[in-house]
Amino acid sequence: MDFKDVKKLESKVYANTFGRLPVAVTRGKGVYLYDTSNVRYLDFFSGIAVNSLGHCHPKVVKAIQKQAGLLMHASNWLYTLPQLKLAEKLEKMTGLKKCFLSNDGSEAVECAIKLARKATGKTEIIAMEKSFHGRTMGALSLTWGEKYRKPYMPLVPGMKFVGYNNIEALRQAISRNTAAVIMEPVQNEAGIIIPDEGFMREVRKVTEDKNVLLILDEIGTGFGRTGKMFAFQHEKVKPDILCLAKALGGGFPIGATLYSNMDFEKGEHGGTFVGNPLACAAALAAIDVMVKQKLDKNAEKMGKYLLERLKANNHKARGKGLMVGVDVKDGKKTVLDLIKQRVLTINSGNTVRVLPPLTVNKQHCDTFIKALNKVV
Ligand SMILES: Cc1ncc(COP(=O)(O)O)c(C=O)c1O
Repeated sequence: MDFKDVKKLESKVYANTFGRLPVAVTRGKGVYLYDTSNVRYLDFFSGIAVNSLGHCHPKVVKAIQKQAGLLMHASNWLYTLPQLKLAEKLEKMTGLKKCFLSNDGSEAVECAIKLARKATGKTEIIAMEKSFHGRTMGALSLTWGEKYRKPYMPLVPGMKFVGYNNIEALRQAISRNTAAVIMEPVQNEAGIIIPDEGFMREVRKVTEDKNVLLILDEIGTGFGRTGKMFAFQHEKVKPDILCLAKALGGGFPIGATLYSNMDFEKGEHGGTFVGNPLACAAALAAIDVMVKQKLDKNAEKMGKYLLERLKANNHKARGKGLMVGVDVKDGKKTVLDLIKQRVLTINSGNTVRVLPPLTVNKQHCDTFIKALNKVV
C-alpha cells in the first residue's frame, strides 16, 4: 500500500489521537525497521523504549511461536505455568516478593495505586511535576501534563505533585493522609530529565521516615535501559512497589507490578488477559536474552560512548545509559529531518529522545551522530 493511501485510511477509520511520524513500517530486524517501500531505517527510539533486544529477536519469536501452539489464553480461573515462572524470575531479579502481571504500563500503575491505598488505608499519592505514569484514569491522575489531563476532569482525587528533584518540597507535602510517593528514576516523556545523584535515595529515606510507601515507576527505565538492570540499583534503594512494562515483553505487550509486605484479597483486582501464557513466554525469553547478553552493561558502555560523541560534536546532550536527550532548536523538525536521513527518533518539545535498542554498537551510534550533524 502506498504511504498516501495508508495515511488516508488511518484518518478515515482510526481514532484521531496519535500524532504520527510520516513512516509506515511493515517489518523489523535487529536495530532496523523497514517501510512499505522496503526502505531501511535505523531505529533509535525502539518503539518508545520497548524493543530493547532489537526487533523480532529470534529467541523471543521462537518462544512466542512455541507457546502459541500450546496455549495462548486460559484465564485466571486456571493456573498457568509461564505466569508463575515469570513471577518467580521477577522476584529473583528485583528482590520484591509478589507479582501482579498486567497488559501494559498504565495497568501496572493502576495496580500500584490500588495496592498502596489498600495497604495503608490512606488515599493520597504524591507524584512529581512533569511525571508521566499513563493514560488510564488512575495513572492519568498521577500524570502531570495539562494536555493529557484537561479533557478528562475530574480525575481521581487525592493526588498531588511536588517538584522533581526537590526533596524539601516532598518532605513538606507528605501528610497524615499520604499513602505513597511515586516517581520515575529518570523522566522519559518529559524529555529525559535526570535528577541529581542521590535524589532517589533521599526520597527513599523521607518515605521511610514518614512511613509512606515508595512506588518506583521503572516502566521506561527498567531492564537495562539506564545501564543497570533496574535504575534503583544505581542508588541501592529498594522500593515498596515497582512498576514495569515496555521492554519486559521483548516487543510483546505486558506489564508487572512487584511488591512485598502487602497483598490483595481474592477478587479485589484482576483482568481477563492479565498474565496470559503468550505474553509471559515472550517475557521469559526476552529476560533470558537480556541477562545472557548483558544488555545492561552494553547500555552503560554504549550510553557513555554516545554521550561523549554527542558532546564532542557540540550537541547539548544528557543521558543515563541509553536514555539520552538532545536539546535542539526545533524538536519536531529535527525528528522529521532525521527521517530523511533514515534515522528514527521521537521528541518531547525541543528535546530529541534517543532510546536505541540496547544491542547497538559504536557503528550504529556513529551513524546516528552523522545524521544528526547533517540536520542540526
Ligand atoms: C514512566 C512511564 N510510566 C507509565 C507509562 C504508561 O505505559 P503504557 O503506555 O504502556 O500504558 C509510560 C509510557 O510511556 C511511561 O513512560
